[in-house]
Amino acid sequence: MFTNIEIKDYDTLNKMLKSLIEDETNRIANLSNASSLLNFFLKDKLVGFYLYEESTNELVLGPFQGLPACVRIENGKGVCGTAFRGNDIFIVDNVNEFPGHIACDANSKSEIVVPLYKDGKGIGVLDIDAPIYDRFTEEDRNGLKAFVDTLINYI
Ligand code: SME
Repeated sequence: MFTNIEIKDYDTLNKMLKSLIEDETNRIANLSNASSLLNFFLKDKLVGFYLYEESTNELVLGPFQGLPACVRIENGKGVCGTAFRGNDIFIVDNVNEFPGHIACDANSKSEIVVPLYKDGKGIGVLDIDAPIYDRFTEEDRNGLKAFVDTLINYI
């Protein structure tokens, strides 16, 4: 389908996302391709999704790219659980300074978490870890919010 991927900005990324997932209804397939696109665009350490499991009240590792990661995160814990519970985007410039940060990879220095909510219901989070401090900007916040707003319609 792709021979080369060059993604220059969030507008291009979000158009590519839509064209890649709009004809598919399978949640895992669409989340997998979304994590792949983000990985090509951002080139960070870990890019992926945690999906909410109501029966355990936990976020469970979903499609992602990167090194093996923590599998279960209690709702309300860590950056992921805190962002999910409050339905709030979190940018953490230095993960060592976030109380309760869950370290899956000691080389992760900063992080952004964008909650996925559909019709008021929590689906999970997009979690991106970077190997440098202060990695994520307002441009990332807005671009990733738009990315998730598109994605949520196809999962
Ligand atoms: N650091 C996250 C846990 C997930 S890993 O980054 C993949 C947190 O504190 O919620």
